[in-house]
Amino acid sequence: MPQATNEELLARWKEEPAPLLPLLHAFHQRDGYLSEDALRFVAEGLRIPIADLFGTVTFYHHFSRDEAGLDRPRICTGPVCSMRGAEVLTASLRAAGHDPQPMPCPGRCDQPVPVIHGGTVLTGRTAGTLVSGPSPLPPPAPQGVEECVFAGIRTPGHSTLAVYRGEGGYAALTRAVTGMTADEVIDVIDRSGLAGRGGAGFPTGRKWRAVADAPGHPKTIVCNADEGEPGCFKDRLLMDHDPHGLIEGMALSAYATGSVRGFIYLRYEYPETVDILEGAIAEAEAAGLLGDGILSSDFSFDLRVRRGAGAYICGEETSLLNSLEGKHPFPRNRPPFPVTHGYENLPTVVNNVETLSSAPPILVHGADWYRGLGRGDHAGTKVISLSGDIARPGNYEVPIGLPLAELLHDWAGGPPSRRSIQAVTMAGLSGGFLAGADLDVTLDEPSIRSKGSFLGAGGIMVFDDSRDMIRVTRESMEFFAEESCGKCFPCRIGTQRLVERLEGEGPGTVEAWVDEVTDLNEVMKKTSACGLGQAAPLLTESLIRYFPERVRRHVAGRGPGHGSARKG
Ligand SMILES: Cc1cc2nc3c(=O)[nH]c(=O)nc-3n(C[C@H](O)[C@H](O)[C@H](O)COP(=O)(O)O)c2cc1C
Ligand code: SF4
Repeated sequence: MPQATNEELLARWKEEPAPLLPLLHAFHQRDGYLSEDALRFVAEGLRIPIADLFGTVTFYHHFSRDEAGLDRPRICTGPVCSMRGAEVLTASLRAAGHDPQPMPCPGRCDQPVPVIHGGTVLTGRTAGTLVSGPSPLPPPAPQGVEECVFAGIRTPGHSTLAVYRGEGGYAALTRAVTGMTADEVIDVIDRSGLAGRGGAGFPTGRKWRAVADAPGHPKTIVCNADEGEPGCFKDRLLMDHDPHGLIEGMALSAYATGSVRGFIYLRYEYPETVDILEGAIAEAEAAGLLGDGILSSDFSFDLRVRRGAGAYICGEETSLLNSLEGKHPFPRNRPPFPVTHGYENLPTVVNNVETLSSAPPILVHGADWYRGLGRGDHAGTKVISLSGDIARPGNYEVPIGLPLAELLHDWAGGPPSRRSIQAVTMAGLSGGFLAGADLDVTLDEPSIRSKGSFLGAGGIMVFDDSRDMIRVTRESMEFFAEESCGKCFPCRIGTQRLVERLEGEGPGTVEAWVDEVTDLNEVMKKTSACGLGQAAPLLTESLIRYFPERVRRHVAGRGPGHGSARKG
């Protein structure tokens, strides 16, 4: 088939909503990189100043600007892959004649080590054994544990409309559209206690009500499927095996808030998921469950998938909105919040995949049912992505309030090779570490926040007692330093300074080193403009709290010449 011309690509996307990213992807895929000619053509076609477009394109990891770009393998250097063979795989690919480059975690910590090559994601330990495949299904829930979003996910064919509907799928949307007011739908979600599962934990019913009440049209539902947090890989599983659950949840949110358009902002690193989602959207449209006049009512909802291009900060909701709008993906200043000034400055719901996928079962079974799934006073469930030094890594839907030790040892088999657990991360990397007696927490925000951390999106990486926690912290901080968008000073400089201290620079006595790192931590926490700069110092803070002896050896063990000449 002849290749599409520049003009054909532009004509395909120019009149579509949020056209910049898909148009750039079309050129990138066609040419294997983004040439200067392509960028000039896109800048002119979409009326974007070329300097702005150049700055935006080079901000993303996966848009290549040199000719061999798309064909050059990129290997995960995240904390789990780094201890599970990233170096071996790099050497193996070099021996096979490739020029592999490092990349941040692409969300497959349960299948180390991932490589992106030519737009495909493969996993394995050597060049000759790399394979691609869908997200692994979750292990069966322990006896007596009731699930919400995973309840039907293991049924063969669940991702198809026929099987999904055969199991009662789209009953919630049908009930809402044919027999409930928008306000009644919001009321059920509100009473269920469902809170955001993307990190911040904002009550979902309150968010939906704020958008419903906000003036301005058209309103928008944005599904945050950026999942860039290292150690998190739950949203990929939900989208791969339950795409209709997400679509139904988005349609319910649209009905409840009076929204008519929606986007799934999907991270670049999930290429197979694009086809799965677009296939499911086409099925739903053909069945009258999306599009104009849904279920023969006057409710209409248009849903599109938009692919990111590799930037952790695009998971922050206002960066995401800027990215979607074709702007440079810096976080916006808040307030105003997206509920009133979101996509195109109009009222917008931004919700995580897991949050939206929880809505249909809650509508079917009721608010009390969902509340009752949690332990003690806690409402509902949370999917935890578990990886690292653990016998059975994977995604687990746990009752909120489950003891962490029960998940680690009873559900997931504990650490392999008779070692003991030295530390775990919380919220992927963003919550820093828990260790020692503080591993005795329950999986709910109050319990984990009382230890100076947070549950967030639910990524937990396990490190056994053979791991060097200075190295783990340094590699984790390197991630934040690389992903800092650079908009504000405390985060841009602070993350770099913390990396240097973990590399061996800084004051020569342990007391002075700890004082300086603590000072950096506090300034970053108080003055960074968004969650990235506020969360990164939790790593160094918890390192100092739990591993003072290792910190002492780190500072004492440096040879002459390690003191920093640089100023923080
Ligand atoms: C640096 C940063 C990265 C984030 N990444 C994600 C992400 O990948 N997915 C996500 O759902 N939320 C992410 N969030 C949280 C979003 O800003 C937002 O709170 C969330 O999408 C709202 O949906 P929820 O209420 O359903 O959780 C991130 C926040 C920050 C500060
Ligand atoms: S805290 Fe970091 S990531 Fe957030 S706006 Fe500031 S520089 Fe950007």
